[in-house]
Amino acid sequence: MAKILLTGGAGYIGSHTYLALIEAGFDVVILDNFSNAKDDVPARLKDISGKQVHVYQGDVLDRTLLDDVFATHKIDGVVHFAAKKAVGESVAKPLDYIHTNVGGLLNLLAAMDGAGVRRIVFSSSATVYGDTSVQPIPEDHPCTYTSPYAFTKIAGEQILEQLPDNWAIGILRYFNPVGAHQSAMIGEDPEDTPNNLVPYIAKVATGELTQLGVFGNDYDTPDGTGVRDYIHVEDLADGHVLSLKSLIETNQSHTVNLGTGEGSSVLDVLNAYSEACGKKLPHQIKPRRDGDVAVLTARPEKAKATLGFEAKRSLADMCKSSWAWVNGQRRNSN
Ligand code: UFG
Repeated sequence: MAKILLTGGAGYIGSHTYLALIEAGFDVVILDNFSNAKDDVPARLKDISGKQVHVYQGDVLDRTLLDDVFATHKIDGVVHFAAKKAVGESVAKPLDYIHTNVGGLLNLLAAMDGAGVRRIVFSSSATVYGDTSVQPIPEDHPCTYTSPYAFTKIAGEQILEQLPDNWAIGILRYFNPVGAHQSAMIGEDPEDTPNNLVPYIAKVATGELTQLGVFGNDYDTPDGTGVRDYIHVEDLADGHVLSLKSLIETNQSHTVNLGTGEGSSVLDVLNAYSEACGKKLPHQIKPRRDGDVAVLTARPEKAKATLGFEAKRSLADMCKSSWAWVNGQRRNSN
């Protein structure tokens, strides 16, 4: 079976993709510097999968390490998650973001080329579409950046576009990934006060935070709050398996949105989470957050036509799985 290098494989989306790849029969080697992952993730992945987990602790900027990995393993393809991902932090530290996200990709591509490995799935983001009123967004919408983070994703895509035809490249533009693995043993686990909606609501549900601040209720949306295309992280993980299979089978590159195509408002998510945890979660309306857009939803048809990808899990599934994970962690720590 094909052997895959998963950079950032101990992170939130990476760890779920690890499990989806193992379930699909791939051999997987993880490379992660654990800057945004807990040390016990590999042990958890072993418990869930029942298989030994092969992990290199290290950085995609370390060329010697990458060369060693490619010399040791006959890698058939790479899924590249390892990157920084906080929009606000990228504004404060643009050079760090460019160094890690663009420099890391370049280093990885050079090592891959040297080893003759020319298949890569790249984590991109709906953020590449910028602030647009075209909704839902098709993949041929022009790209424009609104933050250094978004710049690094556009730059990454453009670098990949320069590679010759003997490369097979899957560019996946994620919408808003949420939820946790069905085992409730891995999930999103931010250390600090979360910036993102679902992790924040989760901490209101556990009582660590008192109430959700809703950033604006005067948008041009059905209930006035921001609308996003939330996608279950297990659906997103399945999208990576399909992308990789397509690269292996067809050697054709693709750029696709990974979303459901459906929008949910902040209040829709809060209500679904309240349902999931069995108590009404409080909120307060706050001013709009800088840089937020009213609506961001995917045109999902191309992913279906190209990869056979279709998100299966509902908003209720996303909230239930998040709650099962967060509540389980809280019980374990008490
Ligand atoms: N929101 C609140 N209160 C909060 C947090 C969020 O009301 O405490 C609202 C936001 O205003 C927005 C929605 O919830 O309307 C979703 O916000 P998130 O921060 O969860 O997600 P974003 O859509 O802002 O950002 C996400 C990723 C980015 C990525 C972007 C575009 O976090 O990395 O999608 O793809 F760039």
